[in-house]
Amino acid sequence: MKDSVVVITGATSGIGAVAAMRLAERGARIIFVARDPIRGTETLEKLHRLAPNLEHRMFIADLGSVADTRRVAADIAAAESRIDILINNAGTMLDRRIITPEGLELTFALNHMAYFVLTEGLLHRLVASAPSRIVNTASSVHKGAKLNFADLQGLESPDALSAYGRSKLCNILFTRELARRLAGTGVTANCLHPGFVATRIAANMGGIVRLINPIVSLFATSPEGGAETIIYLASSPEVEGVTGQYFYRCSPMAPSAGAQDDAVAARLWEESERLASQIPRQSA
Ligand SMILES: NC(=O)c1ccc[n+]([C@@H]2O[C@H](COP(=O)([O-])OP(=O)(O)OC[C@H]3O[C@@H](n4cnc5c(N)ncnc54)[C@H](OP(=O)(O)O)[C@@H]3O)[C@@H](O)[C@H]2O)c1
Repeated sequence: MKDSVVVITGATSGIGAVAAMRLAERGARIIFVARDPIRGTETLEKLHRLAPNLEHRMFIADLGSVADTRRVAADIAAAESRIDILINNAGTMLDRRIITPEGLELTFALNHMAYFVLTEGLLHRLVASAPSRIVNTASSVHKGAKLNFADLQGLESPDALSAYGRSKLCNILFTRELARRLAGTGVTANCLHPGFVATRIAANMGGIVRLINPIVSLFATSPEGGAETIIYLASSPEVEGVTGQYFYRCSPMAPSAGAQDDAVAARLWEESERLASQIPRQSA
């Protein structure tokens, strides 16, 4: 990892925070996107304490906004001539439907569209830096989820929680189509399930989940364990050239049949591109 440049989202908490710290300890320079300047500054200070002299950097953006994600991608690309690894990891789980000011369902916007838009905005840098890698944090809860292109964001679904499973299915389909499109460029794209990990991901949940979460978390993996597969996919020579795969515990695994459907993956890409193009760019 020495001298590698890693761009990572969701590095202010949980799995992403551990991945950023461990990669920095191995010599990577960490460029991270945070939404909260206070939590971001704490993360930056930790990185500088752990791995000084590496000029780690923080960029502030709300990844629930397509326009802000596009803006931060442009800012990072302008500041960094080389990007070796992009880790799309920021995510949330909600028990209610929230529509963003851009008109997107928030789980879909943050958990899927941000991966899509940030990757699109940094792709020229990753291609120019090849061999390079893209790592997307997905989840085993994609199993059982299904995309309905007539209502991709689940705006008409009675069950707001199902948005999370669909967004994680999107992560795997996005990785699949991305890998196909990147064939021959030297840029690989893989995704992973980190396990059931004790983090703040369920902090926004109410009702029974909030009540039982402290008890259920006792059986969860630590963020250190959850970050292992991200670190492996970002840094191990064993996965050099490996692309389009879904990993769990540092091993490739077959995701659900629905997550292996190339036609659905291609359609999701087109729909994501269409949705992103409808959202105006921020004025400078
Ligand atoms: N925990 C699990 O059991 C589990 C299982 C499978 C998959 N995953 C996946 O793992 C990934 C990381 O989750 P985690 O468990 O580590 O959760 P976490 O501790 O809640 O971390 C989520 C990260 O995303 C950031 N984030 C949230 N909303 C954002 C926004 N609008 N703009 C920018 N950043 C935002 C958070 O920033 P703040 O610090 O400001 O909140 C935080 O850094 C997610 O993709 C999740 O779906 C988790």
